Amino acid sequence: MEKTNVAIVGLGTVGAGVARLLLDHGDRTARHAGRTLWLKKAVVRDLNKDRDVDLPEGVLTDSIQDVIDDPDIHVVAQLMGGLEPARSVMLELMEAGKDIVTANKALLAEHGAELFTRAQQLGRSIAFEAAVAGGIPIVANISQCLSANQILSLEGILNGTSNFIVSQMDEFGSDYGSVVAEAQRLGYAEADPAMDVDGTDAAQKLAILSHLAFGASVDWSEIPRVGIDGLDPDDLRYAKELGYRIKLLAVANLAEDGLELSVAPTLVRVGTPLAEVRDAFNAIRVQGDAVGPVFYHGLGAGQMPTASAVVADLIDTAVGRTQITFRTLRYFSNDQPPRVLLRDAETLVGRYYLRLPAANHPGTLAAIANVLSRHGISIASVIQHESSDGDRQRDPVPLVIMTHEATEGAASQATQEIESLSSVSGPVVRLRVKG
Ligand code: NAP
Ligand code: HSE
Repeated sequence: MEKTNVAIVGLGTVGAGVARLLLDHGDRTARHAGRTLWLKKAVVRDLNKDRDVDLPEGVLTDSIQDVIDDPDIHVVAQLMGGLEPARSVMLELMEAGKDIVTANKALLAEHGAELFTRAQQLGRSIAFEAAVAGGIPIVANISQCLSANQILSLEGILNGTSNFIVSQMDEFGSDYGSVVAEAQRLGYAEADPAMDVDGTDAAQKLAILSHLAFGASVDWSEIPRVGIDGLDPDDLRYAKELGYRIKLLAVANLAEDGLELSVAPTLVRVGTPLAEVRDAFNAIRVQGDAVGPVFYHGLGAGQMPTASAVVADLIDTAVGRTQITFRTLRYFSNDQPPRVLLRDAETLVGRYYLRLPAANHPGTLAAIANVLSRHGISIASVIQHESSDGDRQRDPVPLVIMTHEATEGAASQATQEIESLSSVSGPVVRLRVKG
């Protein structure tokens, strides 16, 4: 049987999973590729570190040059995180004639245009299914399987770590810090977990999907984003009382005047598909003009789901499928003008959940309602719990308001004005509500 030599650069959580699939299931990959995928080298920083996989003699190296200088290695799974040296290494590997498979979304979101343009110039390819939503084949689905459609919207849970944390806090009352540590132990989190919990990782994935779905050249750092790092367990409890769960939702909506993009903790009604996505699972609802709604659900982080996507890309590259789609789809090409402009975040329309500490005396509710009314925001429901002993002196009391639809601009101005009322003694928590 023919053989394609493969190298892995970075043998951490994902790299070790990829090595295990190649070594333990070589027969399966050979059957699906019609050729053997032979793991020739695995590059790490520290040769003495314990690895999550047993490698044959001579495979492990701490020299990237061993891969660059080997003309018999044709495909490289580039699985180190971060921007540098990942960017330079990818460029060097392509210059040396290697096709690339990667899971590094931060790198693609930041330097995708440069890397993809260089790959086109060199006649090389970059496959990146594992960069978005782990094991869910969303890149292939959007760029190939749904290519007859104009995608109208994408809406999803794109960060497994955040979803794991919020699910554990919601279902078991777990403490935020200990669940973050558990997500790190389970291999879900980025090397710097701040990127997961502050919405950066989800925004980077949304930017990549927006390139594929809308041809939009999106700078991920311009996507309005809020993470789950400031989420208060009280809001999870109030959301539950109202019949919702809080999820970190990434949304891209193609409107007449532009593309709306956002990442934010959002109340999602219990019983709807996105609300039922738990733990490190991801989900994406895609609306196409011909196909209608399509829903994808699967593990979005972790060793083997991510390795599954990487190895599928290795097989596609070994048999030459990636090279064809890469050439024809011209992902991230910066010689085409962006087709879609980012829409001003202030004009986004949605419903809101507000929680605020309100003075327990006459006129408070009227003053708050007055501010909302002046901004054209209608109240859908209000919760203010009487304390168990009916104590009127409990002051301030948490007041929770659900609104009908309003623009982001109006909601944000109203929030500031409510915070400045003398009857409101602290910041207003404002969360989106999925319509
Ligand atoms: P990780 O566990 O931190 O592993 C990174 C690996 O890269 C380590 O083996 C490290 O070597 C190696 N490395 C770093 N700098 C290097 C250098 N200069 N030269 C050689 N090797 C170097 O990270 P991971 O979780 O596997 O993630 C890898 C990539 O996949 C990241 O871009 C991440 O965003 C992405 N990703 C991860 C997941 C997931 O669930 N974990 C899912 C999808 C995508 P040492 O071990 O010797 O330090
Ligand atoms: N840290 C990422 C997450 C890994 O939790 O979703 C998958 O990209």
